[in-house]
Amino acid sequence: MTEKDFIPKPYTHEIKNGSHTWSSPSNIALVKYWGKKNNQIPANPSISFTLDACKTTTKLTYSEKTNSEDFSFDVFLEGEKKDDFKPKIETFFNRVEVYLPFLKHYHFVIETSNSFPHSSGIASSASGMSALALCLMSIEKSISEIKISEDYFMKKASFLARLGSGSACRSLEGDLIVWGKHDKIENTSDLFGVKYPFKVHDVFMYYQDTILLVDKGEKQVSSSVGHNLMHDHPFAKERFNQAHDNLSKLINVFKEGDLNSFIEIVESEALTLHAMMMTSLPYFILMKPNTLEIINRIWKFREKSGLHVCFTLDAGANVHVLYPKNEAEDTLEFIKNELVAYCQNGHYICDQIGFGAKKI
Ligand code: PMV
Repeated sequence: MTEKDFIPKPYTHEIKNGSHTWSSPSNIALVKYWGKKNNQIPANPSISFTLDACKTTTKLTYSEKTNSEDFSFDVFLEGEKKDDFKPKIETFFNRVEVYLPFLKHYHFVIETSNSFPHSSGIASSASGMSALALCLMSIEKSISEIKISEDYFMKKASFLARLGSGSACRSLEGDLIVWGKHDKIENTSDLFGVKYPFKVHDVFMYYQDTILLVDKGEKQVSSSVGHNLMHDHPFAKERFNQAHDNLSKLINVFKEGDLNSFIEIVESEALTLHAMMMTSLPYFILMKPNTLEIINRIWKFREKSGLHVCFTLDAGANVHVLYPKNEAEDTLEFIKNELVAYCQNGHYICDQIGFGAKKI
């Protein structure tokens, strides 16, 4: 498929107003997306677990307006008007207008809420942008001349979410999503996320992710600045090749349930992501001392217990602690006894693999 496939035929059904609500989860990458080309095209393929408990619910209300020269919308977070969210949404609307030509014909009210505390350091852009993209697709479905299939609906919603925030395109479905062309995984695309198509061992069912909130402050360097620093990065080419290789290796790991190799790939990916930040120009560090304390304690506990707990990181100081469901009791006890002390105000969130967005 190409971008052109997402440009709709002229709409025929006139609808004056209505509303749609979707809830969409966050996701955590195992092979990381870091570095992009124009139009949010990833520099390398990535794969993520869709989460379950961490999600955004968005109600999009639309009403026809007479003047169709500008975008018109209001945004509310947990019932409070959020004008500081508007520039990001305006940029998103500009990027997707060619694919959603109805955008200037309606006034929108976007009411959104997160299941996790705002300013928890958990990025809400993946869940937020995917929920909004799904609401917009629900409008398109109701005004479109041709019948929109389930498959096209999800692909286009993922395509739109990607234009809002790259990793958001991996949040719509579950439980493992690949985004970015990879030569060993059929039907993968740089334009949208697709379900991982091969066999996955039962040990990965309901895989656990306990998110340790180490630092809830604003990040000093945004993801988009970080992505851009991969242009002219001295290790970029090797890094992009490594991501392809790691994704190839994961195919067998998922099939066989090889947890030791899983741990090696996932932790190496997390540290490589941060190594790229530390070796770009300008360089920066998003980990905090407690991030490193937690990593060291996980390594010690793993060696001592023989359990399969490991960590991954996103673009921040928080630590995602990943472990199989059948080891949850002992691992959670370890987390409570030894790791929670390193979280800001003792805050952490217990999550697990989920199966994607839901229409409400
Ligand atoms: O979707 P963005 O632009 O916020 O970038 C996300 C990048 C990472 O979270 C660090 C990695 C990933 O693949 O999700």
